[in-house]
Amino acid sequence: MTDIASVKDKYSEQITGAADLKMLDDIRVAALGKKGEVSMMMRGLGQMSPDEKKVMGPALNGLKNEIAALIETRKSALELDAMNAALASETMDMSLPVNISTGTLHPVQQVMEEMAVIFSDMGFTVAEGPDIEDDFHNFAALNFPPGHPARDMHDTFFMTPDADGEQKVLRTHTSPVQIRTMINQKPPIRIIAPGRTYRCDSDQTHTPMFHQVEGLVIEEGTHMGHLKGVLMDFVSAFFETDVDVQFRPHHFPFTEPSAEMDVRYERDGAAIKIGQGDKWMEILGCGMVHPNVLRACGIDPDIYQGFAFGMGVDRLAMLKYGMPDLRDMFAGDTRWLGHYGFSPLLQANLATGLS
Ligand code: DAH
Repeated sequence: MTDIASVKDKYSEQITGAADLKMLDDIRVAALGKKGEVSMMMRGLGQMSPDEKKVMGPALNGLKNEIAALIETRKSALELDAMNAALASETMDMSLPVNISTGTLHPVQQVMEEMAVIFSDMGFTVAEGPDIEDDFHNFAALNFPPGHPARDMHDTFFMTPDADGEQKVLRTHTSPVQIRTMINQKPPIRIIAPGRTYRCDSDQTHTPMFHQVEGLVIEEGTHMGHLKGVLMDFVSAFFETDVDVQFRPHHFPFTEPSAEMDVRYERDGAAIKIGQGDKWMEILGCGMVHPNVLRACGIDPDIYQGFAFGMGVDRLAMLKYGMPDLRDMFAGDTRWLGHYGFSPLLQANLATGLS
């Protein structure tokens, strides 16, 4: 028993003296780790007589719990000290004047925030996924079987295969976030997923990196009418004017039926006016989520239906704010950013206006 008391005193002293979390963790390992002193003492119980065991078992357990409790208490104290030290050293002078001429919000960021505001008003939350994806999330679960020709249309950037031969890709669209969301969340689901996407393509209207926003709704009884209503409301809110739209049949592997949505527009010199005129411009793809996609995510298509949509953020930013060349968006020219950027102090919102 003296053994137990002296072990306890020894660690108690060490724990009180631990100057930082690393030291404290070393003490924890030395005492309670797999090969730690207390763990080894507990292992000795096996060789004891039943009578001895009756005494030593509870005593050793008590020792273990006491040391664990002392470590926890010291840990909280050390964490508090660390936070107080950070608060004391990382001060900010709130009285400094704000110089808004030197920093602006990129139009892509602005437009993604506008979209988040519009869709959150309709009950959507924002989801995210990784830029480097595996074949399952980017293709297979979205109903692109291996070798399917639709895969070739994505001009995919492939990563070097890893040690066990798996070849990841830079995601070619934001649709894999649909898959991640359906696997991790139970319906009802209403999300948008803004983010970077990549395709091996470069000219006046294509950059190898671009941005998309994906949308997904999964709820019992969802139908094409809901899809149309949400997207029609969205474009009018986004362009801040009434916008006429039309839906054309299309094909995507992950939706059935699939459609593209066009908005009415006209040219006025170099400018493009959305909402009026007699021309149609395609701005997004959409459709009812394919039963195979629901099944791949463990959702029963006989119970749940849903719709999805995907659109290019950069192009919508160009249309709304009149930027002529997509490539300028990512050139990092401060004159361009100064001209097209937005005040970082004004938050897009539906009450006082998006922009
Ligand atoms: N993932 C498609 C693309 O990159 C866009 C898209 C179309 C997304 C239809 C969707 C959808 O969710 O339903 O071209």
